[in-house]
Amino acid sequence: MSGKGGVGKSSIVANLSFFLAGKGHSVGVLDADMHGPNMLELLHLSGHRMTMENGKIIPIEAKPNLRVVSVAGLMDDDSAVIWRGPMKHNAIKQLIEEVNWGKLDYLIVDFPPGTGDEHISAAQLLKDITGAVIVTTPQHVSMLDMKRAVDFCRKMNIPIIGLVENMSGDIFGKGTIEKFCKKEGIDFLGDIPMSREVVLSGEDGKPLYSYGNSNLDGKFMAVAEHIIDKAEK
Ligand SMILES: Nc1ncnc2c1ncn2[C@@H]1O[C@H](COP(=O)(O)OP(=O)(O)OP(=O)(O)O)[C@@H](O)[C@H]1O
Ligand SMILES: [Mg+2]
Repeated sequence: MSGKGGVGKSSIVANLSFFLAGKGHSVGVLDADMHGPNMLELLHLSGHRMTMENGKIIPIEAKPNLRVVSVAGLMDDDSAVIWRGPMKHNAIKQLIEEVNWGKLDYLIVDFPPGTGDEHISAAQLLKDITGAVIVTTPQHVSMLDMKRAVDFCRKMNIPIIGLVENMSGDIFGKGTIEKFCKKEGIDFLGDIPMSREVVLSGEDGKPLYSYGNSNLDGKFMAVAEHIIDKAEK
């Protein structure tokens, strides 16, 4: 989750799913963004469509242990989704309850920004949520919105795995999220620097490690391992 839009949630979900699948885990990615569904693009699956079998949705396969469902897998590439709350609730319900995932070790949900219909529906429909990873940039306005996401999780009794400082560096700043976490008693999961390779990874649908930026890889892997450690505990 995040409060503000465009802070890097989907990029992190895509790379976390590559990371987990690369370690041999069976991973499902549920794209809960109805208006800006980007996961197919980020996993190099644009143009792929979901199918139905025995009344169940069959996820799109990126590799044998990495599968994804997204409303983008149901419609034309440039179509706008013009739905009100109840329709979004029904779509999320279908993507949660009517998918034949097979056996999964992890289900990662990519949300739109904010704390809207998609979040409330998923919080109600998903059973036994391990926890929320909240992404923010260190910029003041992003932090203001991030605090609402933290409050949402607390009010809905969703454990917070921790916070990620994304786009860390000269432009938005660095270090403010770790300070916030200490003050609030929330785990700081690490920082990911502002880097061209994150953009390329999204455009090519390839994992970050394909680009040989060892500093960025190290930072991303530290975040991913922290998330997994905490989730396992
Ligand atoms: N660390 C980073 N360095 C440079 N660019 C980044 C970084 N993280 C994300 N981006 C870029 O920022 C843009 C937004 O990222 P992304 O789509 O992952 O954010 P989001 O939080 O999922 O957005 P939305 O709220 O619209 O769902 C993308 O163009 C992505 O390539
Ligand atoms: Mg996104």
